[in-house]
Amino acid sequence: MKKLGLYIHIPFCKKKCNYCDFYSCTSIKGLREYISAICTQIEREAPLYREYLFDTIFIGGGTPSLLESNDFSLLVATIKSNLNLTQGAEFSIEANPGTITKEKLTCYKENGVNRLSIGLQSTNNEELKLLGRIHSYDTFLKNYQLARDCGFNNINIDVMYSLPNQKTNDFLETLKRVIALNPEHISSYCLKIEENTPFGKMEYLPLPDEDEEYNMYISMCELLTKNSYDQYEISNFSKKGYNCRHNLKYWLSEDYIGIGPSAHSYFDGKRYSYIESTEQYIKQIKENQIPNKIYEQTEENTHSSPQMSKMDEYVMLKMRLSSGVNREEFESKFGEALEVAYPKITSFIQSEYIVYENGAYSFTPKGFFVSNYILTEILKF
Ligand SMILES: C[S@@+](CC[C@H](N)C(=O)[O-])C[C@H]1O[C@@H](n2cnc3c(N)ncnc32)[C@H](O)[C@@H]1O
Ligand code: SF4
Repeated sequence: MKKLGLYIHIPFCKKKCNYCDFYSCTSIKGLREYISAICTQIEREAPLYREYLFDTIFIGGGTPSLLESNDFSLLVATIKSNLNLTQGAEFSIEANPGTITKEKLTCYKENGVNRLSIGLQSTNNEELKLLGRIHSYDTFLKNYQLARDCGFNNINIDVMYSLPNQKTNDFLETLKRVIALNPEHISSYCLKIEENTPFGKMEYLPLPDEDEEYNMYISMCELLTKNSYDQYEISNFSKKGYNCRHNLKYWLSEDYIGIGPSAHSYFDGKRYSYIESTEQYIKQIKENQIPNKIYEQTEENTHSSPQMSKMDEYVMLKMRLSSGVNREEFESKFGEALEVAYPKITSFIQSEYIVYENGAYSFTPKGFFVSNYILTEILKF
């Protein structure tokens, strides 16, 4: 049976953070009705997935840990009674400090959740305040300890760097404290200023310059590697055996379905997402309609424009991983040599932005830092 990943989006947050443009609303009034709509969609669409085995489940957001235990249990019961799951399927949930309780953690355990992803962002309370987070470092520490006490042995911690006024040493302080907690996985994202956010609307933000950002990035790679965290993707580091199998599906172009407004899917060769409106989503499910989808079309044999081709997409996603693009795999998939399709790829080897090792091209840490620029160059024809 073919494998499939399941993503469920919980588009609710207590408060919007100043940098975040992920789709979520701050009124949790409709939360119960929303879960009921998600369950209805799963029940209705289950026949489409009869021939598939789900080996990963990811409940993300938004803030999934806002769900009350009975709603969470109902959601999991619906998933389990309608979809085929593999034994030992990876089952992750995103949990925000300040919304985590012992009761909720116990409920996650009882329902088979085996991976927690906790958004910390920084261990500096001033930075947390600036980011608009609802919690302090101390709240996070208590929540993290509670999760360990409840038996969670696969925990990811999210952090961000290149924050306003941040210096390399400030970020390294956050990282060192995180490393001391010994999580199995660390996701570390460079702050991206998104247009429709409070940060995006500010006239001036004292962001670190490019040299400082590069220092943060390279020091982070060195420190995490020294502490046995393997960088398996641009922003993701894990202890041996703790890669996030669900997120790997995105970069390996494997099948996954996303449920809920803004959730993305790659299924049956097509990429699509549901429109960003919780109200409309609930209404359409209640009226027995299929929620509105937006399809991303990809042409088979053209490079980059007007739409990205499957081949470009494959290279772009694979190059996010430290394992890179394997020459033989590429050729057997597309019937063309990688260097013929993308002649510029070899030109970044001498400058040590790209390496060719074990039959694959991949970015070096310093290449990852400028990977957007390099990929644009490589994918140009
Ligand atoms: C979609 S959020 C959901 C996680 C959870 N709600 C939380 O805030 O802890 C996943 C992660 O994306 C990262 N993130 C969100 N917006 C970002 C931005 N503008 N720049 C960089 N990282 C961002 C944060 O590290 C966050 O923890
Ligand atoms: S970062 Fe997390 S908590 Fe903050 S607004 Fe985005 S999804 Fe919500």
